[in-house]
Amino acid sequence: MTMETLNMKHLFIKGKDETAPVLLLLHGTGGTERDLLGLGELVSPGSSVLSVRGNVLENGMPRFFRRLAEGVFDIEDLVYRTKELQDFLNAAAAEYGFDRSNIVAIGYSNGANIAGSLLFHYKDSLKGAILHHPMVPLRGLDLPDLSGVPVFIAAGDNDPICSPSETRELDGLLREAGAEVEVRWDRFGHQLTSAEAHAAADWFKRTFAKG
Ligand code: MLT
Repeated sequence: MTMETLNMKHLFIKGKDETAPVLLLLHGTGGTERDLLGLGELVSPGSSVLSVRGNVLENGMPRFFRRLAEGVFDIEDLVYRTKELQDFLNAAAAEYGFDRSNIVAIGYSNGANIAGSLLFHYKDSLKGAILHHPMVPLRGLDLPDLSGVPVFIAAGDNDPICSPSETRELDGLLREAGAEVEVRWDRFGHQLTSAEAHAAADWFKRTFAKG
């Protein structure tokens, strides 16, 4: 397989502000590269957007990696797909001419999990990340140095897929690696709420505001 090809279905939309972080949008199970465009616009209207569709199909539903059951990941595929996305980002930065070190991911559910896996595997893959309802992507890994990498996690008290204890575990693992994590809890389940989307936008402005 070629290392660096644009082998993931995606949209690249050039933004007005070339210095703002490029938003990497990663949908949830069954989604497409169009799902999170509105969220990206809310979070950083001036940013360029790279929105990717997962290469795995589960009963016709796009995902970023295989799972064996709800919440039980195929770790071998997760590792393979994480590298696939990492290679894709390198290739996309070269193809579209943006700064590879200036990418902030926004992921929901399965998309948040692959974004978390990028953070777990590759130093300097992401400048920061907004993770809506993420899980711990995998356990037993030595994380790279994530010093100063800002991460916003939105979680639901009643999320049946990402339990509060798993959210706290993820928070702890990222913090131990040096990341600056902020967790926001809502009294909801797994859905991406409008309130958490606005909170993510506020966090982004506080975190990446210029000057
Ligand atoms: C996953 O498979 O990544 C999680 O269970 C979240 C989801 O349902 O997509």
